[in-house]
Amino acid sequence: MFKHETVETNAGWLIILTLLAIGVGGLVEIVPLYMIDETVEKVEGVRPYTPLEQRGRDIYIREGCYTCHSQMIRPFRDEMMRYGHYSLAAESQYDHPFQWGSKRTGPDLARLGGKYSNEWHVQHLVAPRSVVPESIMPNYPWLLEDKLDISDISDRMKALKLVGVPYSETKAEFDANVEKFGKDVAEMLDINKATENLIAQAQSGNYDGNKSDITEMDALVAYLQVLGTMVDYSKYDEEYFVNFR
Ligand code: HEC
Repeated sequence: MFKHETVETNAGWLIILTLLAIGVGGLVEIVPLYMIDETVEKVEGVRPYTPLEQRGRDIYIREGCYTCHSQMIRPFRDEMMRYGHYSLAAESQYDHPFQWGSKRTGPDLARLGGKYSNEWHVQHLVAPRSVVPESIMPNYPWLLEDKLDISDISDRMKALKLVGVPYSETKAEFDANVEKFGKDVAEMLDINKATENLIAQAQSGNYDGNKSDITEMDALVAYLQVLGTMVDYSKYDEEYFVNFR
């Protein structure tokens, strides 16, 4: 009785069934968002970015690196052989907005950290073709010249805190972070110490190879070097992570 033609030729049915389809589709998309806290499984090691890494991430977004690079390894054999362990939801838990992406003109960067030296990154960003002759990636020479603007780092962290990233402002929040991430990480997440932490990390890391200035390159390389390194995969076997898929 209920043929496809009946629906197509009867505006009433068409409207009711269309609304029903949209309703179900909408619920399937929206309802999980209310349970996001339970949906993203906790994984040891994942922490918010340090102030320097966070500034690097801002530059990554400003320069549009995401238009050519994704940051999500899908659970397929070919991707895992090329890029490493598939990405876990928890790994982008503190990313606002996340950088999963769907465009791979260049390779996925989700597990880039530690793959190359800082010097390699600096050289590659300034002149990609000097290290990878066939590369079509643009040059970013200004990153090495432009001093990093650190004047608004606390505001940036406060904004991220508003959307749920556990940076701390009060003593109670700091103590909660010590409990959750350990003392060293908690120190880095303290908004009150953001500027000094940023400067200290840039100077000890010396990511751009120039100790006298803190450049945008320092921040970007610090960020690139932490990508995918927070979870220690060697601690677990493959079976363990199947639960997080
Ligand atoms: C027009 C597209 C494009 C843009 C924009 C782009 N890249 Fe690339 N990127 C590539 C291509 C293609 C490669 C592969 C060739 C190479 O290594 O240079 C690459 C390679 C890389 C690699 C080496 C990855 C690996 O595993 O070997 C890094 C790191 C990288 N890009 C970082 C960046 C950063 C950071 C930015 C933004 C400042 C950026 N890219 C912007 C296209 C792009």
